Amino acid sequence: MNHDPQDDANAAEQPADSEASTLHHRRIRSFVTRAGRVSPGQQRAIDELGPRFVVPYSPELADWDAVFGRNAPRVLEIGFGMGATTAEIAAARPGDDFIGVEVHEPGVGALLKLIGEQQLGNVRILQHDAVEVLEHMIAPASLDGVHIYFPDPWHKARHHKRRLIQPKFVSLLVSRVKPGGYLHLATDWQNYAEQMLEVLSADAELENAADGYAPRPEYRPVTKFERRGLRLGHGVWDLLFRRK
Ligand SMILES: C[S@@+](CC[C@H](N)C(=O)[O-])C[C@H]1O[C@@H](n2cnc3c(N)ncnc32)[C@H](O)[C@@H]1O
Repeated sequence: MNHDPQDDANAAEQPADSEASTLHHRRIRSFVTRAGRVSPGQQRAIDELGPRFVVPYSPELADWDAVFGRNAPRVLEIGFGMGATTAEIAAARPGDDFIGVEVHEPGVGALLKLIGEQQLGNVRILQHDAVEVLEHMIAPASLDGVHIYFPDPWHKARHHKRRLIQPKFVSLLVSRVKPGGYLHLATDWQNYAEQMLEVLSADAELENAADGYAPRPEYRPVTKFERRGLRLGHGVWDLLFRRK
């Protein structure tokens, strides 16, 4: 994405991390809320398709079989951005259902647009913090897989606390995955890749499905942004772990 959330974090840092906000039990979030510009096409998709494909956040377990109208393997994607990868994977795997979680409104509109254009019946969207979605709306041991692609790297050391992949979050994530289910992560930030490998390897409930980093599974398409990075000689690291 063009926008660098770390800039917003610099601006938001004072209130978010101050002692006063700690007293109000505000947790450190992996994103900064920003008012993105929603294009007319995205807005139309939100108005027309939102009621069918967006699941409103509510702090209680959702009946996902009822939401999808079937019982199929279920994959949660956290931070789908503009949703291009989500749509491509959902189209390639029609037998699986995908719950995409994203806080950024233009991204929600963009994915809804793709859902409409490609007639995807197996995607639902939640526009909310994934941490709260996992805590409240997803039952323990209910997911077949989790996708987290290119999460914000929070590259400045003082922002590392905002990174999603930390031990506590990973235990929450793993608790929602069925035994044998998978976590698939990718990043183009080497230092974050190393953190991911360390944190996932240290979780007693997980086992690495590869030897260290994994080859990119075929179902994950190479994104435009990733292709450009690869051309510039940047690396991309995939990680594939299974719940024991
Ligand atoms: C760097 S972008 C990557 C987007 C996409 N996965 C891709 O590969 O292009 C990370 C996305 O994660 C979203 N995000 C970060 N923390 C989140 C959270 N706790 N819950 C939901 N979305 C989150 C951000 O809004 C942002 O769109």
